[in-house]
Amino acid sequence: MVENFLAGAEDAGAETENIILADRKIGHCTGCFACWLKTPGKCIIKDDMEELLEKFSADIIVFATPLYVDNVTGIMKDFMDRMIPRLEPYIGKDENGECKHPVRTGHMPGFILISNCGFTGIEHFQVLKLLIRRVARNAGSKILAEIYRDGGGILASSMLVLKPFLMHYRKLLRKAGYELVTDGRISEKTQSKLEKPIIPPEQY
Ligand SMILES: Cc1cc2nc3c(=O)[nH]c(=O)nc-3n(C[C@H](O)[C@H](O)[C@H](O)COP(=O)(O)O)c2cc1C
Repeated sequence: MVENFLAGAEDAGAETENIILADRKIGHCTGCFACWLKTPGKCIIKDDMEELLEKFSADIIVFATPLYVDNVTGIMKDFMDRMIPRLEPYIGKDENGECKHPVRTGHMPGFILISNCGFTGIEHFQVLKLLIRRVARNAGSKILAEIYRDGGGILASSMLVLKPFLMHYRKLLRKAGYELVTDGRISEKTQSKLEKPIIPPEQY
């Protein structure tokens, strides 16, 4: 899903980088708050997060995760936890009067979420939908797009009979990436096509 979406973004002239978190060394946040109180903006854990946090100078960050126990994967959660050096320790208020920390550099990229799950039914993404809203709010970001694929177990299938259906879906993802870069959003038409089942749920 990510590869096709990014290919579309590149068609529209964007520079992209696909980082596989599972290939990186990302330790758990220990909650020591050194990144706020001792070495402002810098985590004392020496691993790949130092390099990955520099990527937040980008315009957009796409969080892509399979659904694990109704949530992001543990690796993605570690990555999200380790984003806190980007924030300042002070507590302010957002436009709804809710507490929040200011963004350290003033710049926070827009967020996109891409996910797939094994079950059919969009309701399986309820937790993820709320989570990304809260993560974006906490980080002072905006959600630019969300792509949820239920019945995602067939995405990696090499069954010949599925090929045309999967090709169609991949083209839609590519279109979504293109639209996002050219128009700043995925069109309603493309979004509604992306939400349709790839094959009927009973067949799945
Ligand atoms: C530990 C674990 C937990 C999972 N939890 C859910 C779940 O809560 N709901 C669901 O629909 N699928 C769940 N799945 C299925 C995955 O979301 C599904 O296999 C998905 O297609 C994997 O995507 P990937 O091929 O990109 O890794 C789970 C899979 C694993 C391994």
